[in-house]
Amino acid sequence: MLIRIPTPHAPRPSEITPRTTYLTRRAALAGLGLAAAAPQVLAQTTPGGGRLARLPGQRSTAAGAVVLDKPTAYADATSYNNFYEFGTDKSDPAERAHTLKPRPWTVAVEGECARPGRYDLDTLLRLAPMEERVYRLRCVEGWSMVIPWVGYPLAELIRKAEPTGKARFVEFTSLADRAQMPGLRSGVLDWPYVEGLRMDEARHPLALLAFGMYGEVLPNQNGAPVRIVLPWKYGFKSAKSLVRIRFVEKQPRSSWEQSAPQEYGFYSNVNPHVAHPRWSQATERRIGEDGLFARKRPTLMFNGYEAQVGQLYAGMDLKKHF
Ligand code: MTE
Repeated sequence: MLIRIPTPHAPRPSEITPRTTYLTRRAALAGLGLAAAAPQVLAQTTPGGGRLARLPGQRSTAAGAVVLDKPTAYADATSYNNFYEFGTDKSDPAERAHTLKPRPWTVAVEGECARPGRYDLDTLLRLAPMEERVYRLRCVEGWSMVIPWVGYPLAELIRKAEPTGKARFVEFTSLADRAQMPGLRSGVLDWPYVEGLRMDEARHPLALLAFGMYGEVLPNQNGAPVRIVLPWKYGFKSAKSLVRIRFVEKQPRSSWEQSAPQEYGFYSNVNPHVAHPRWSQATERRIGEDGLFARKRPTLMFNGYEAQVGQLYAGMDLKKHF
């Protein structure tokens, strides 16, 4: 008897694009002169909610920028969130983040750079061409999603700032405004929310400055109007609603490290071989696949982006630098 053993990420029959959809889309793409990019564009982009401004992006051609896993439904990606500034329950951000005002908005770029400055949102939006990137996002809590983000490489903004030779790290700070963010009344984290990266991580072509998802501007609960997205690190490294980007010499101390240094390290690379002190990181639950018999997926090293980012950590002991 022949038994078919599915590979971990083999698409389910329901995930495969129907032939008619495929053919129609291919014909439309041929009209746009995009048929040559067929492998990139076959991944189906789930539509957004339709209530926010459109923000389209060209499908990115960067290595690893478009995973072919089925995108998570928009309704799930916008109702199951971590954004502690609005509360710690997964449903809190969607229920409460309507108080966030994503305009007017400015992001300060400062520290060890020749061109510090304060960018308003419109300037930031025009700084580089918008790309659509379909990334896996894996939370340290053991769930994952696949989201079509819209943005451009963080490296574009870094280049404009001209960091000096002293800049070894970048520190990201999220908005902390009690008037807009009811969660700040709780002491669950030290506000503002701070994260950091080494310069070479921040300059990596996959590190994204995101302004939208599913072809629309970011909903408040997902970090409007601008956030970081780092597909190879646990979700908490992807700071939302950014107000400051600072180039620094010393390794920044992130909010999570500050609150529980034994549980959250500076690097926080997705790593199935290094368990969180209270649970394993070997598998994950893909949001939208949570039926009674849904299988868990094995978690991949660097969230499946090892070919692209592995060399950033060559020679490092990743059990020590977790
Ligand atoms: N950024 C801020 N400012 N505050 C937060 O609480 N949570 C992080 C990250 N960025 C968080 C944040 C965590 S734990 C995760 S998993 C992701 O955002 C979730 O992003 P999403 O809600 O868009 O899926």
